[in-house]
Amino acid sequence: MSSSNLVTNSCFLPEIKKRLVDEIDARLDPLAENLQELFTLEEADSNEFLMRCYMESLRFEPPVPQTTSTTFTQDVELCGFNIRKGDPLMLNIEQLHHDPTQWQRHEEYLPDRWDTSNPLSKKPDGGQRHAYAFAPFVGGRRVCVGKTFAELAVKFTLPLIFYHMDFSFKEEAHKITKPKYVIGLKGCPVIVLKKENRREIK
Ligand code: HEM
Repeated sequence: MSSSNLVTNSCFLPEIKKRLVDEIDARLDPLAENLQELFTLEEADSNEFLMRCYMESLRFEPPVPQTTSTTFTQDVELCGFNIRKGDPLMLNIEQLHHDPTQWQRHEEYLPDRWDTSNPLSKKPDGGQRHAYAFAPFVGGRRVCVGKTFAELAVKFTLPLIFYHMDFSFKEEAHKITKPKYVIGLKGCPVIVLKKENRREIK
């Protein structure tokens, strides 16, 4: 889901897609003779802009928008709230990622906020973001066990996908209006993309 979100978000923003594709083409063109062997982990690790888009896709629409419930084994006071032992507690990751005190222009998809030299990487007041302002995999003992796998899958598969294919919206209306992202039982909105081959897949 993080990969499909990234591909879809790039379709909404042609300038982002161009930067992504330019980075990937520059990386993979010299390896095109034998991508299977030459596209190594070191090469996959070097697509900086792709990783910024990945982080921003995880922030913007976290694939797991809220956690399952957890409980404390004793009464706890947390940020002024009294939570009783046994009370169910769920973390709303989506809301965390849109906290206007932590994120500038939080409703915009801005991969450059992950460039630490960019002013957008700071909080609106210019300070450093809280370490848990971004927690798509949560953390601690209950951290997602697939975190590293998911990251590796993005680093390896997305460059190969973008190198060989281009995507656009099947429904014209989606170019202008993104279906609203909803959390709950109604399910996620579906955006259908068409693909065109950019290169022959060897
Ligand atoms: C971008 C992709 C992914 C995201 C954003 C993600 C996010 C999360 C989150 C937020 C949790 C905590 C849920 C909770 O405590 O209620 C979790 C747990 C978990 N994830 Fe992922 N996940 C991703 C990919 C994967 C993959 C690829 C695997 C397996 C190959 C995986 C396996 C698990 C497992 C087994 C847990 C339960 C861990 C536990 O409770 O101890 N995840 N994930």
